[in-house]
Amino acid sequence: MSRTAVSAERGHRVFAWFYARTSAAAENGPLGEYRRSLVRQAAGVTVDIGSGVGHNLPHLPAAVTQVHLVEPDPHMRSRLEARMDDAMRLHAVGAESLPIDDGSVDTVISTLTMCSVDDVDAVAGELHRVLRPGGKLLVMEHVRSIDGRIARRQQRLDRLWPAFSGGCHIDRDTGSALGHAGFDTAALRRVELPGTPAVTREFVLGAMERR
Ligand SMILES: C[S@@+](CC[C@H](N)C(=O)[O-])C[C@H]1O[C@@H](n2cnc3c(N)ncnc32)[C@H](O)[C@@H]1O
Repeated sequence: MSRTAVSAERGHRVFAWFYARTSAAAENGPLGEYRRSLVRQAAGVTVDIGSGVGHNLPHLPAAVTQVHLVEPDPHMRSRLEARMDDAMRLHAVGAESLPIDDGSVDTVISTLTMCSVDDVDAVAGELHRVLRPGGKLLVMEHVRSIDGRIARRQQRLDRLWPAFSGGCHIDRDTGSALGHAGFDTAALRRVELPGTPAVTREFVLGAMERR
């Protein structure tokens, strides 16, 4: 029997294939290091939004008791399901509307996902809603540059970029959206990913406590 809670039919077949084939290599470099240092802070009931092909799963520590995977793309889900175990439940929905009770979650993980969601503000609000006070939001997201020249290039490129990258946007100010939803963004670091084009090099990274 499938462990998928709801079914949804939209997705990017070619991007899912491409991401599964190419993204594993990046996990051996600085991106993988950022990811490991972040995901190992998860504990208790944990929600991973935009789980993709499951790159966060090997890094979940023993302190995690239950995992909700949120993935609306059926082509990603078919790959993700192969990596799931019995403590994991897969929700075939967008993170704009999570089928999870208010304040019932200890940790939310968002890695390389806020760039791809339909509505960043709605997702930020949902993450705040499902986390209990004192719960943690673990974030690793590429964002709009603080260098105005690069930001303008991101804005121009973003007219076409999503069409070739599974809906990923390169000019999002994810840190501000999380701040508006009520998260204390002081704990977010801005880091650069070496060896990456300038338009996808700047990240926000860190663990924020839900107030
Ligand atoms: C670049 S992949 C990142 C996957 C994974 N989080 C990682 O770190 O490798 C972006 C993922 O976000 C998913 N996604 C797109 N729209 C979404 C939404 N509205 N809610 C949740 N996830 C979404 C995509 O299907 C895709 O799996």
